[in-house]
Amino acid sequence: MPYLKNYDVLIIGSGGAGLSLALKLADNTSSVAVLSKFALTSSSTYYAQGGISAVFDADDSIESHIEDTLDAGAGLCDPEIVRITVAQGKSSIEWLRDQGVIFTEEQSRSGESQLHLNREGGHSHRRVVHSADATGKAVSLSLIERAKEHSKIELLENHSVVELITIPSDGGVSKQVVGAYVLDSTANKVKTIAARIVVLATGGANMAYIYSTNPHSSTGDGIALAWRAGCRVSNMEFMQFHPTCLYHPEARTFLISEALRGEGGRLILPDGSSFMQNFDSRGELAPRDIVARAIDHEMKKRGIECVYLDISHKSKRFIREHFPTIYQQCLEYDIDITEQPIPVVPAAHYTCGGVLTDSYARTDIKNLYAVGEVACTGLHGANRMASNSLLECLVFADRASEDILQKLPDIHSYFEIKDWDESKVSDSDEEVVVSHNWNELRHFMWDYVGIVRTDKRLSRAMNRVQLLKKEITEYYGNFRVTSDLLELRNLVIVAELIVRCAQQRKESRGLHYTLDYPEIDSSKSPQNTVLTP
Ligand code: FAD
Ligand code: SIN
Repeated sequence: MPYLKNYDVLIIGSGGAGLSLALKLADNTSSVAVLSKFALTSSSTYYAQGGISAVFDADDSIESHIEDTLDAGAGLCDPEIVRITVAQGKSSIEWLRDQGVIFTEEQSRSGESQLHLNREGGHSHRRVVHSADATGKAVSLSLIERAKEHSKIELLENHSVVELITIPSDGGVSKQVVGAYVLDSTANKVKTIAARIVVLATGGANMAYIYSTNPHSSTGDGIALAWRAGCRVSNMEFMQFHPTCLYHPEARTFLISEALRGEGGRLILPDGSSFMQNFDSRGELAPRDIVARAIDHEMKKRGIECVYLDISHKSKRFIREHFPTIYQQCLEYDIDITEQPIPVVPAAHYTCGGVLTDSYARTDIKNLYAVGEVACTGLHGANRMASNSLLECLVFADRASEDILQKLPDIHSYFEIKDWDESKVSDSDEEVVVSHNWNELRHFMWDYVGIVRTDKRLSRAMNRVQLLKKEITEYYGNFRVTSDLLELRNLVIVAELIVRCAQQRKESRGLHYTLDYPEIDSSKSPQNTVLTP
């Protein structure tokens, strides 16, 4: 049987971007499939804490949100994209409320209920709408529930895309996507799925680093799939390191939200002294690149393993009410945040670059879209401002749905797709190669392509990437695919793209900091890095 099924739209990813898009399309299409490579909740969206930025405060304005975003992006944001995105803040929050998401409220002075707004780094106003400190869980669970209720949406867990299927288009000068080969990890079988439209909503690539705040799913699959299919990729050097990940041997990926700093949390050294004022007049609320670099600097200078984040001057009641998840999670590791400072370190958190898209999430390949963290829309420039990411997922899901619905009637199904060929491969007898290479890659990316870079470190990283790539390509050609192998194959491509972009940037800007060119190059206008396959 050639096809598992033929869908109108195949959405790869069940995070905020993928599910929002599915819900926006479902009433007007005959079939939408949403794939998740693990459980539906295995997404960065589920773990988001601080919230979603949108202008609600009477003293705030769209102009101010735009200005802060441009400032954080260090000259590389696309001002038009920033305006489009920020302008849809309020309507995006209203849409989420219509889907059943409950946000934290407070009483206004006049006694009415209103949204409580968090403050985070880079924002000049309180503007982050949230569900206590587990905003992503609230968003994710509501969207999953709505999607499960919809008869036109099919949710497929444990389905991992192996490769996009494309055919020549426009007389061979371009390509068109017509489906994907998908590993069903439960049945252990590669299926063929045909679709008139395919959307990458696969999230970021932050598992390229050994220390990351992300869930296991963030292996940059969508970026590697698009690159192999022929899409341009942009700004991959701008990997964002969140300044405050819990430092504990048993809790490598637990984030301590920036909202803690927004409520007065102070970063301190082991002797109790604060240091952020020495780096930026905005102190703890400077944009993330500055705070992460300051922590890295202090840790290296003093040879310490972590710094501390202290919120214990706030009342116990306030802390438990505002940060219930963080309070509970830390308590499980014997850290009572109402009484003691939290040990923290920076960790890889967000991929600012990705598949280059236009303002409707269209990629270089016909009928292929990219939405959410996988995409490089121009919103974040050289450094994403806190809580602008979930907003981007919602706004671009909306814009992609508009374009897809308009286009769909003119796209015909394509029925000549070959099945996946497994005749020349066998089961691997050396899976240790995969786990070993996973670890090696993530370690050298941390050591050589982390918060502070140099030409020499980048070139060391590139040498290792090339060796690994050769070995993995050979392995992929000989053995039956597994989920781990697919991820490793994608991660090594993403690592190469990060290093190549970093090598092209001969200056320090935003999240890309190199000791060899420690200043912004102001001799020419700011340039995005664009790689063409
Ligand atoms: P994700 O939510 O990561 O979803 C990706 C989906 O793609 C997953 O379902 C995954 O299984 C699937 N997938 C991946 N590869 C494949 C494949 N090959 N085949 C099939 N499926 C695949 N941003 C904010 O704006 N505010 C916050 O408060 C905030 N807090 C954060 C806290 C944490 C701990 C983290 C990690 C991130 C946070 N971010 C926050 C960033 C934000 O959560 C993400 O950028 C955003 O959720 C990305 O959504 P997405 O839908 O693009 O991708
Ligand atoms: C956080 O809560 O600190 C994460 C916010 C974000 O990444 O946007």
